[in-house]
Amino acid sequence: MEIHRREFVAGAGLAGLGVAASGLVSGCQSHSPAAAAPTAPRTQRFNMSGFAVDPIPTVRVGIIGLGQRGPSYIRHMRYIEGVQFKALCDLRPEKAQAAKAMLRNTAHDPELYTGEEGWKKLCQREDVDLVIVTTPYTMHTEMAVYAMKHGRHVAAAARRDFARSGYGELVKPPRRPAATA
Ligand SMILES: NC(=O)c1ccc[n+]([C@@H]2O[C@H](COP(=O)([O-])OP(=O)(O)OC[C@H]3O[C@@H](n4cnc5c(N)ncnc54)[C@H](O)[C@@H]3O)[C@@H](O)[C@H]2O)c1
Repeated sequence: MEIHRREFVAGAGLAGLGVAASGLVSGCQSHSPAAAAPTAPRTQRFNMSGFAVDPIPTVRVGIIGLGQRGPSYIRHMRYIEGVQFKALCDLRPEKAQAAKAMLRNTAHDPELYTGEEGWKKLCQREDVDLVIVTTPYTMHTEMAVYAMKHGRHVAAAARRDFARSGYGELVKPPRRPAATA
């Protein structure tokens, strides 16, 4: 079953993950012995198996957090065909300006956002397809959820210690209705 990305991330918001999941993974089977036991009650859990989105010819990117990791993504992605940096954000203006300087003499001309709330403005931009979150990991969940609720795809620079990352919140079933995009 194919689901279009805008329907997935914007139309349904994060709360829609659970709804989309039931259709996406209904055919998935676990091969673990526990799951195979005929009497074991089992609840289908959401995962991304089978998820597909429409191709995006030019991926318009915004980055939040321009310490070490953010600029390294700029360095690696700035010459990739089909990538366009539209927006860069850091709490500290000098970090945002230094990151933009890395794109001098390229086709990229990102808008800069700074301060405590700058990242929200970046996420609200309709012309950003992908938000890359490279702030300290404690902020990832809030920023990722906010971006997805505004219809953006999200990638986060994960720490190795997933258990302490708080990412579990990202895939929990919704406890309240999703905000509209
Ligand atoms: N540096 C690495 O080698 C590395 C490797 C793997 C994963 N990571 C992960 O990448 C993420 C970033 O790591 P880093 O080393 O670049 O950290 P960093 O501290 O160098 O950079 C974080 C940046 O986020 C900015 N920031 C903080 N709050 C903000 C806000 N509210 N809005 C906008 N910007 C804000 C800070 O000003 C800073 O410039 C972390 O989650 C880390 O675990 C880093």
